[in-house]
Amino acid sequence: MILTVKDDQNLIRKTDNFLEQLNELKLDESLSLIDQYLSQFTATELLASKEWLRQEKFYRKPILQLTSMSVIAFLWNPSDITEYHRHHNYQNGFSHAFIKVLKGKAFHEVAEIVDETKPFIKLRQCYSEIVKPGMITQVQPEQAHALGNFGCGQMLSIHLYITPVKNVDEQFCLIS
Ligand SMILES: [Fe+2]
Repeated sequence: MILTVKDDQNLIRKTDNFLEQLNELKLDESLSLIDQYLSQFTATELLASKEWLRQEKFYRKPILQLTSMSVIAFLWNPSDITEYHRHHNYQNGFSHAFIKVLKGKAFHEVAEIVDETKPFIKLRQCYSEIVKPGMITQVQPEQAHALGNFGCGQMLSIHLYITPVKNVDEQFCLIS
């Protein structure tokens, strides 16, 4: 177990317990368990932290990374939005992402891959949604998504990836 938050015995214990329970479920059927696990991370505590890294489209705060999963918090200014992307993992596959909004409103679009031919992989949108505080949503490994801040204040979200994300790709083109 590699933790980016050092000496947090409470987090280690909760994570061990969570992974043990998760093992017995299919990921699609585990939303309430994941929601319960992510509820230990609160907006007040995360916003009080100074360890936010500014990236191109958001602030990012790694919480923990294990070989089987990772947790990262994201803080978004009003105009922050990602391109469509997929989450490549370390096993040459894709991660399953679970996103919980803690503060503000998120705009979320999910798409399926229609044609893998590069340089621009073709996508078709499956749905779009507004994710409000306390709500959790997901991106299946075979899907791509775009996420952004839908409100006029800051938006805070916490993301669980199974398995950890190595990098993302953004060379997509949306078709109707
Ligand atoms: Fe993502």
